[in-house]
Amino acid sequence: MITQISVSILSLDYTDQTIIDAALMRITNANYLHFDVMDGKFVKQKTYGYELVKNTNTGVLKKDVHLMVKEPEKLVDKYIKAGADIITFHAEACKAPKKLIEKLKNKGIIAGLAISPATPVKKIEKFLDDIDLVLVMTVKPGKGGQKLIKATLKKIKELRKKKPELIIAADGGINDKTAGMVIDAGADILVSGSYIWKSRDPKLAIDLLRNA
Ligand code: DX5
Ligand code: ZN
Repeated sequence: MITQISVSILSLDYTDQTIIDAALMRITNANYLHFDVMDGKFVKQKTYGYELVKNTNTGVLKKDVHLMVKEPEKLVDKYIKAGADIITFHAEACKAPKKLIEKLKNKGIIAGLAISPATPVKKIEKFLDDIDLVLVMTVKPGKGGQKLIKATLKKIKELRKKKPELIIAADGGINDKTAGMVIDAGADILVSGSYIWKSRDPKLAIDLLRNA
């Protein structure tokens, strides 16, 4: 699989839709726009809700929604209606992960489970036959601009070995120096924000990540 790039907007001023829309024009060679939804409960930080997902016309990019929220089952309908293509949630935040996975898949949405750096693969093992995707957090959930935790790469390798057909995404601290290791470990989708938005030419930065 050719490496896909999902661009996080966490480091942009997402309260201003015109900034998001202008930024989108600079990353048309990416595959997904990554929305980090934080509720102030599952993680300390609070970001935005389904309105931003709904109101953002991502054009050629698909919508990749990462729910860092408690009880995602209560919110998910709004994100489905907002046009999400991928919805990823944290199993430990959800009462009945299997039910939610089924629901997403029935709606034709790519269903993902996210695992924080401290969470071992065995915690989600029982869901591996049901889900489409695992999002391996390569930083602690909550903030952009953190350094990639190298120990998380072992989990990507482990998942790749266990389930060759699984879509594996890696999220956090991905830049031109770390992307190669993440791809070599077996990731299909790289989620990156700070590095892309800090570079003078975001399109070039995306190509560099993809070909790292
Ligand atoms: C962290 C988020 C990531 C983050 C990635 O909680 O899930 O998506 O925004 O951004 P960078 O590239 O800044 O680590
Ligand atoms: Zn994320």
